[in-house]
Amino acid sequence: MKVTRRAEFSASHICSSPQLSPDENRAIYGEGANPHGHGHNYVLEVTVEGEPDPVTGMVMDLKHLKQVIQEEVIDPMDHRFLNREVAPFDRVIPTAENLAMEIWRRLAPRLASDKTRLDCVRLFETEDLYVEYRGELA
Ligand code: NI
Repeated sequence: MKVTRRAEFSASHICSSPQLSPDENRAIYGEGANPHGHGHNYVLEVTVEGEPDPVTGMVMDLKHLKQVIQEEVIDPMDHRFLNREVAPFDRVIPTAENLAMEIWRRLAPRLASDKTRLDCVRLFETEDLYVEYRGELA
């Protein structure tokens, strides 16, 4: 059984690589490479997998899931300039792909128990673009 909780946060970022020239960065990332940065309203969907508990009928305490997302993602990232304020994005390009991997790393150990595990992190950068990530389990 899979259960998914959605959360939203807003953050700004610059997408450019120090390993590429300014022209190459503009060619690859377009306006995303603008050094002033730009914002997104991210939508995060976190899916956990497990069997419903015979007593509670729930895979996981959903208040706990909400709180873990709040502490690990929303509190540190909402209304932040990712490249400047949120590690590791001072040295890792905060593309949606890298953001989803970092969110996985933050959530997986906190959502692991003998009954449940993190199944998938899905991150929408815009309404019509999302990435999905399944990483190593804690
Ligand atoms: Ni962007």
